[in-house]
Amino acid sequence: MNPVSTTQNTIKEKLLNKFRKLFNCEPIIVRSPGRINIIGEHTDYNEGFVLPAAIDKAAYLAISLRNDDLIHLMAQDLNENFSVHLKDLQPVGDVSWPNYILGAVAQFQKKGVALKGFNAILTSDVPIGAGLSSSAAVECATTFALNKLLNTGFEKVEMVKMAQKSEHEFAGVMCGIMDQFASMMGKEDHVIKIDCRSLEYDYVPFKLEGIKILLLDTNVKHSLASSEYNTRRRECEQAVAWVREQEPQVHSLRDVTEEMLDKYVAPKDKLIDMRARFIVQEISRLLKGCEDLQRGDINALGEKMFVTHDGLSNKYAVSCDELDFLVDFVRNNEVVIGARMMGGGFGGCTINLVKEEAVQGLIKEISVKYLEHTGKDLTPYIVSISDGTSVIFE
Ligand code: GLA
Repeated sequence: MNPVSTTQNTIKEKLLNKFRKLFNCEPIIVRSPGRINIIGEHTDYNEGFVLPAAIDKAAYLAISLRNDDLIHLMAQDLNENFSVHLKDLQPVGDVSWPNYILGAVAQFQKKGVALKGFNAILTSDVPIGAGLSSSAAVECATTFALNKLLNTGFEKVEMVKMAQKSEHEFAGVMCGIMDQFASMMGKEDHVIKIDCRSLEYDYVPFKLEGIKILLLDTNVKHSLASSEYNTRRRECEQAVAWVREQEPQVHSLRDVTEEMLDKYVAPKDKLIDMRARFIVQEISRLLKGCEDLQRGDINALGEKMFVTHDGLSNKYAVSCDELDFLVDFVRNNEVVIGARMMGGGFGGCTINLVKEEAVQGLIKEISVKYLEHTGKDLTPYIVSISDGTSVIFE
C-alpha cells in the first residue's frame, strides 16, 4: 500500500470509530483535498486562467442524516462541538470552522432543497492558514456529501460554484473559483488548466521525473490577508471600469491589453495601473507556461514562477518579508527550478520545484537560515498531486 492510502486508512478508521461511538450509526466519509497552484495567481477573479492541482492532504467529513432539523458538528482535531437548527442557519461569529460547513448547507437551502439535520465529524491534515485552501476542502467535502445523502444530483462544477459561494457568504472572503475547483476536480499527477471565465478545463500531466514539489510554510498569516484580498479585487474592478468607459466590449482584465492600460488607466491612477498590469501579464505568462509544460521545458516554466513572485511582491503587493526571504534564498540555487509565493498572500507557503536528490539538503539549510532571519520555524511539506473530492467510505 502506498503511503497516501496508509494515511487515509488510518484517518478513516479513527473517524469511523469516533462516529460510531458518538452517534451510534454508520456515516459516509468524504475526502476533499487542499490545493497547490503552479502559476496564475489572483487571475481567477479576473476571468483569467489558473493552473492548480489537488494534493495529498485533505479534509475528511464523516456524516449521516438525522430525522430532525438539528445540525450537530464536531471538529475532531480541536475537540470542539457545535449545534444549530436548520431554521437558524447563519454565519457564526466567534468560531470559524463551523462556517465552512454551514455555508455549504445554506447553498442547498437557497436552491430550495428539502434539507434534513445531520451529524458530522470533521478532521483534516491540510495545514490551516498555510494557503493550501483548508477551508475550500471543507466546503467541497460538505457539498459533495450532502449532494450524495440528499440525492440532489448536482454536477461537480455546479458543486464547485456552491462551495465558492459558501466562502463568500459565510467566511466573508470574495474568493475566485480556483480553490474549490481544484479540490473538487483534482486528478492524480495532473494540474488543471482552468479557464475561469467559461469554466472549461484541461488536465495537463504533471509528473516530473526527478523533481519534487516542496512547499515551505512561513508559519505566518498576516491579519491583512482577507481585507487586502477584497481590496485587490476592487482595484481590478476599478481598472476594468475605466477601460470600459472607452471600450464597452471589455468585461474583465481578461479582455484588457497593456496598451489599454497605457491609454485609460495609467494616466488616472498609477497604483491601480500597476495592480491591473500585473494581472494582464500574469494571464499571458500562464499561457506561455502551459506551452513550456507541453514542450517539456520545465526550466522555462520555473523561470516564469520567479517572475510571478516578483510581480506579486512588487506590483500586486501581496507578499511579505518572510515569503520574499524564502524565494530570494533559492533564486540562484541550481537545484531549484522555480519558486514563488502561492495563493492569496500575506503569509502561507512558497511553492518550489526542486531536484529530488537535493530536497533534504535544501530543507535543512533553508530552515536554519529562516529561523535566523525571522525567529520563526519553517515547516516543509513535500506534496504529491492527488485526486479531487470523493466518497471513501459508505
Ligand atoms: C485565494 C483565493 C483564490 C485565488 C487565490 C489567489 O486562494 O481563494 O480564489 O484568488 O487566493 O490566486
